[in-house]
Amino acid sequence: MKVKNICCIGAGYVGGPTMAVIAQKNPEIKVTIVDINEERINAWNDSDLSKLPIYEPGLAEIIKDTRGKNLFFSTEIDEAIDRSEMIFISVNTPTKTYGKGKGQAADLKYIELCARNIAKVATTDKIVVEKSTLPVRTAEAVKSILDNTGNGINFHILSNPEFLAEGTAIEDLLNPDRVLIGGESEEAIDSLAMVYNSWVPEDQILRTNIWSSELSKLTANAFLAQRVSSINAISELCEHTEANVDEVARAIGMDSRIGPKFLKASVGFGGSCFQKDILSLVYIARNYNLNEVADYWEQVIIMNDHQKRRFSDNLIKTLYNTVSGKKIALLGWAFKKDTNDTRESAAIYVADHLLNEQAQISVYDPKVPKQKVYADLNYLNTRSEKENETNVAVENSPYDAIDGAHAIAIMTEWDEFRNYDWEEIYNKMKKPAFVFDGRNILDKNKINKIGFKYYSIGQ
Ligand code: UDX
Ligand code: ADP
Repeated sequence: MKVKNICCIGAGYVGGPTMAVIAQKNPEIKVTIVDINEERINAWNDSDLSKLPIYEPGLAEIIKDTRGKNLFFSTEIDEAIDRSEMIFISVNTPTKTYGKGKGQAADLKYIELCARNIAKVATTDKIVVEKSTLPVRTAEAVKSILDNTGNGINFHILSNPEFLAEGTAIEDLLNPDRVLIGGESEEAIDSLAMVYNSWVPEDQILRTNIWSSELSKLTANAFLAQRVSSINAISELCEHTEANVDEVARAIGMDSRIGPKFLKASVGFGGSCFQKDILSLVYIARNYNLNEVADYWEQVIIMNDHQKRRFSDNLIKTLYNTVSGKKIALLGWAFKKDTNDTRESAAIYVADHLLNEQAQISVYDPKVPKQKVYADLNYLNTRSEKENETNVAVENSPYDAIDGAHAIAIMTEWDEFRNYDWEEIYNKMKKPAFVFDGRNILDKNKINKIGFKYYSIGQ
């Protein structure tokens, strides 16, 4: 069956870019993205494209091309569901913050609400596509809700996990390594494959059973995160042995069996996926009593927490064991460059630790708004909102953020940080002027020559 109308529930970092590309490549399909968050939908509909709710290179151009033609953003959820033959569920699945599985299991309440909503309003057969990352066997629950609460129509469930990385979402969507579709109904799989066929060659569309598809997504993220934790573990060893972690990464990355990607030592990985998905994997393994499997993957998170903590401990130790009353400038708040997403960003945890030690924090990030920085810190509940406001300043210019600072901590690898006038920065800081480069992006020799005391990861 050739699909004519697609509805996507969830206008977030996954739903937004993915549907934009599907709409651009399938001008004959009407794509409607719906969300319960009216403010978000309004931002997607804003005529000023710089106000789109998410920042991704190349996204605004696609929205400009497609919005109002065959791509629509709306809060009329029920209507969009009933009109569409294919419905993507692309809502958030955060780690549970309450009850059984707290801190580990994925919270599926948003998924369940979507399934119930689809069942309630659908009057014709639907293909329901899981786009959000979900624990293996979630499709079973979705199917059960649809079949038991629906209006007696047919639902086909497909798992079609999204592998895009933020910051390169459009590039990843346009040139995916593979598109994965898991399901039982060949016909439903074909319908979805046809949507992708508009730009993805058939041999890159991988068809599996639904459980393999769900588990592959968790596994891919776990493997990627594991590589980062592995190189970060080696970075600590490098600091004690005079080896240089970037040189080690280069040397091992040239082994074609290892490969060069995801070997960049850093202050620790962040983002909405890695930690959540590994925790979910660990939780599932423990549920099956597979404790060795669970412990093995849990170590990836333990190492990541250690790396973030080690970074701030080292900063405090180097600043003569106290940062109380000292101004520390954090350059970057996003969890990686080219995104305004801050979920699980290492910067949040480093700032929180330094605030516990009574530092005065100033933050500059080219894409993250002031309110987001405060919201992230307030969410931790470590101190009052008032205290966060008093002790954290969020600046619109990097030069204001570093003015009079004792130390700079580079949290995100934004390209612009490399090109700053580091001489001017040096002149505006307290001496000795320290730079802690959590992303190893600055030229060590140049920075040392200016007079900075420079510390990087694994060197
Ligand atoms: C990840 C997966 O890459 C993607 O396929 C999946 O769909 C969602 O999760 P994302 O979290 O958006 O994507 O970004 P990614 O590029 O994977 O980076 C995750 C974190 O790891 C970032 O904080 C990044 O800075 C860090 N990282 C990545 C490193 O510290 N070193 C590296 O070598 C690579
Ligand atoms: P992701 O990174 O997975 O895209 P986001 O949090 O960016 O996650 O986006 C998920 C979106 O899903 C949010 O905008 C949220 O408002 C929306 N959402 C959650 N539950 C529902 C629901 N039941 N119906 C419609 N939209 C929902």
